Amino acid sequence: MRALSSLLVLAALPAVLAVKREDFKTCSQAAFCRRGRALAERAGQNPDWKSPYSVDPASISIASDQSTLTASVASSLYPEIKFGLDVRVHKDGVVRVRMDEVDGKGRRYNEAASWALLAEPETSKDIHWTVGKKDVKATIGPKKDKLEIFVSFDPLVVKLYRDGREEVALNGLGLLHMEHFRTKEEPQPAVEGGTEAEGAQTVMKVPNPRAWFEGEEEDGYWEETWKSWTDSKPKGPQSLSLDISFPNHGHVYGIPQHATRLSLPTTSGQDAFYDDPYRLWNSDVFEYLSDSTMSLYGSIPVMYGHSKESTVGIFNAIASDTFIDVAHPDDHSSYTHWISESGILDIFILPGPKPADVFKQYTGLTGTQAMPAHWALGYHQCRWNYVSSSDIRAVQQRFDEDDFPVDVFWLDIEYAEEHKYFIWDHKTFPDPVEMTNDVAAIGRKMVAIIDPHFKRVESYPVYKEARDLGIITKVKDGQTDYEGWCWSGSSAWVDFFNPASWGWWKGLFKTVQTSSDKFSWTESTNDVHIWNDMNEPAIFNGPEISMPRDNIHHGGWEHRDIHNLHGMLYHNITAQAVRDRTDPPMRPFVLTRSFYAGSQRFGAMWTGDNLGTWEHMTVGVKMVLSLNIAGFSFSGSDVGGFFGNPEPEMLVRWYYVGVFSPFFRAHAHIDTKRREPYLLAEPYKSIVRDALRLRYSMLPIWYTAFRESSVNGMPVLRPHFVVFPEDEAGFAIDDQFFVGGSGLLVKPVTEKGVTEANVYLAEEQVYYDYFSAHAYRGAVKGKNITVPATLDKVPLLIRGGSVLATRERPRRSSPLMKYDPFTLTVALSTAGAARGELYLDDGISYSHEAGAFVWREFVAATNSKTVRIESRDLAREKPGEAVDGVALATYDEGNAFARDIQAVRVEKLVVLGLAAKPSSVNLAGGKELDWEYTAGVAAGASKEGVASRLVVKNPGATVAADWEIIVQL
Ligand code: NOJ
Repeated sequence: MRALSSLLVLAALPAVLAVKREDFKTCSQAAFCRRGRALAERAGQNPDWKSPYSVDPASISIASDQSTLTASVASSLYPEIKFGLDVRVHKDGVVRVRMDEVDGKGRRYNEAASWALLAEPETSKDIHWTVGKKDVKATIGPKKDKLEIFVSFDPLVVKLYRDGREEVALNGLGLLHMEHFRTKEEPQPAVEGGTEAEGAQTVMKVPNPRAWFEGEEEDGYWEETWKSWTDSKPKGPQSLSLDISFPNHGHVYGIPQHATRLSLPTTSGQDAFYDDPYRLWNSDVFEYLSDSTMSLYGSIPVMYGHSKESTVGIFNAIASDTFIDVAHPDDHSSYTHWISESGILDIFILPGPKPADVFKQYTGLTGTQAMPAHWALGYHQCRWNYVSSSDIRAVQQRFDEDDFPVDVFWLDIEYAEEHKYFIWDHKTFPDPVEMTNDVAAIGRKMVAIIDPHFKRVESYPVYKEARDLGIITKVKDGQTDYEGWCWSGSSAWVDFFNPASWGWWKGLFKTVQTSSDKFSWTESTNDVHIWNDMNEPAIFNGPEISMPRDNIHHGGWEHRDIHNLHGMLYHNITAQAVRDRTDPPMRPFVLTRSFYAGSQRFGAMWTGDNLGTWEHMTVGVKMVLSLNIAGFSFSGSDVGGFFGNPEPEMLVRWYYVGVFSPFFRAHAHIDTKRREPYLLAEPYKSIVRDALRLRYSMLPIWYTAFRESSVNGMPVLRPHFVVFPEDEAGFAIDDQFFVGGSGLLVKPVTEKGVTEANVYLAEEQVYYDYFSAHAYRGAVKGKNITVPATLDKVPLLIRGGSVLATRERPRRSSPLMKYDPFTLTVALSTAGAARGELYLDDGISYSHEAGAFVWREFVAATNSKTVRIESRDLAREKPGEAVDGVALATYDEGNAFARDIQAVRVEKLVVLGLAAKPSSVNLAGGKELDWEYTAGVAAGASKEGVASRLVVKNPGATVAADWEIIVQL
């Protein structure tokens, strides 16, 4: 059935567009994964299965500050091999479980967490340990919401309980296997001079007592050949298998990046949805499938288990090739099996208990989404390629003539002479600085691509300097520079794990010459930001289009150990370079294709080379939701699809997907037809213009959502289970979502020929159509409603109880909106209340970290015949909290930014759902305001229909000040 449906999808695509599946390994083509899955199979068939790993009770030691337990672990299969276990509890209740081989013949890679983590977490001292005969127990936190960790001795199992309910188990199924370092046994030579019978004896097979666990064969222990590549494995087998169960959670989410649903379908067990496990191995998968467990460009090994009782999570800090099987033996439990090629066991258990808690715990570890520059939330226009400076100028002119707002024009690889990044091709870009200045004159920016492959020619200073510094990634001998093939032909890859590369890389981005003998990008300006592509790394002649696993990085680590971190390090150092090229530093924008846990600290990502198909448009929404809950909110997919020539209907729908993506960029392959929005015929052209204007009008909402995300880790896009964690009917919903905490609920249309859409409402509340103010009613147990979804309408609802702050004046770019007035829309709840937030700062610098921001709360309350709408200073309301490192108690309302925008007005106030026509509308202490009322359905009524609407023009209020508007009914 499953196989049949994928065939149908493939058949719908033009013949040329299909992934080369055979370029990428399945589990059965990777020896370590074969071994891991075979282990699970043996366990499944053996009712007496028992993990051979156990804790030596005599070795248990609890740190004097109570924070950490350490113990010795051994495997009954190899009693002489010793492992060390370390269990510690962080201040926020996160439990870190680490295990590594001690005094072994080798060193397992143990640095993934140090790259992913923001800082070394503080441990808790508020733990009570009880060492028993069979286990050791830790009790954390208050009695009511008690967390307990059990570390069972024989076999070794770690479990987390909340209020007596099992939340997470490590090795509960006994699949833990840390392949220890061993010495390669050379095959026994035939006995010389012996009799035939004696010779025969030497090769006779001795039964392997460990075969029940390890299997009979040494499958790919020391070398592995795949296609034309041979992977030498000087360290031998070092894989890590571990089962992680969520025995009381029927849904698991996370582990992006895969083209699949948000609630992860099964890969093992009866009637598994997919055959192959989810894979995390950052790869340049050309023309990827729209429904698959194949690995894609990035990996975030965080997974959440969810049920209506609780949400829990795990972050598995591993950077090597990892396959993950998912099984749901029933609707209420989830079992997962993680098989990695190398690395230590380093698991962080995120105790929850609600989605907001796991997000806070995960981003507490790996950092929150970097607060973007405000302009980066505008519309980005890209294609491979704008071919010359005059092309860029002409495109900009057309955008302006046709009144399409846009903030950024992008340059793909063809700007660079022979793909030598930083070096302009002067035949086509003779005047890069003047071109950028022409774009910047309208408040806009440019983004140029800088890929990590450097053309190996002496005349290219970037390559030459890197080579002379000795910072190029080495082949397996650890000495010789690795050479591979990419856009620039024969290329080298800088080893960004080498600290000697960091200062050098940052120097390249200085737009003023700093040193006479070093290259710096003086033919650029501070209005040029950066795109990091191909950083998996993509290498055309390498295994699985990447780097050989036995290549060597700084510290002697093999590429196999660090592969999934590679893209993040490049992104990290590039973002630092762009930030620090000016004094004071400015917020950088760096887009990355490859990523890992923590990449959200450095900028934005996109979902790579999607196809211009409805299936890709659909799955792109799910992928972006998955990224949002995995900490990486600043994400989006290529609007229009990278490959193909979307028909106008598809392009229009895709624009609306983009309007509601945190990162909004149109992009297209070099072979596609031009498809800038001004090229569309009517009515498509006007619809796209409206879509872009909608995005720009909502920039304050996006910015406020990003600000919240950057402070507490809440995703910018919030799927249903996040907003309604107890509503089971919403747990699998991944085609509609909320924008931040704004109350905007959107369901982009990703199907052809649609005029209506179903939207699920999870609660008994009024929801207003954003455009028509039609009031719909949800129900306690959830309800599907039908809303108009003609081509010019994206299904967009405002949840009753919200206040939206928008800016409605069309401009050519977002910086031109800085002093524009606001419209406030108060969408009353059934109880007659509403609340919303607005965050503003200068949008480019870090002065907000020193308190230069405005953070408002708008609150509406109904009291018998009066509705009061108040604007409050939220910073003042929350004196106990610290935001952006600024203690709100010391927050200065008269800060420089607040002063700068003090004249910015509220030009319009709209109240939806009033119960009756007002008798008066006043600014508190002021005279009657100019208002208009249109009768309609009241928020608290039970009927549906267009809501009543009060419009107050120029209420005499400014956006950064306190005020109150009183509506008398
Ligand atoms: C691959 C990227 O995914 C794509 O977006 C880009 O246009 C090409 N590389 C060329 O740079």
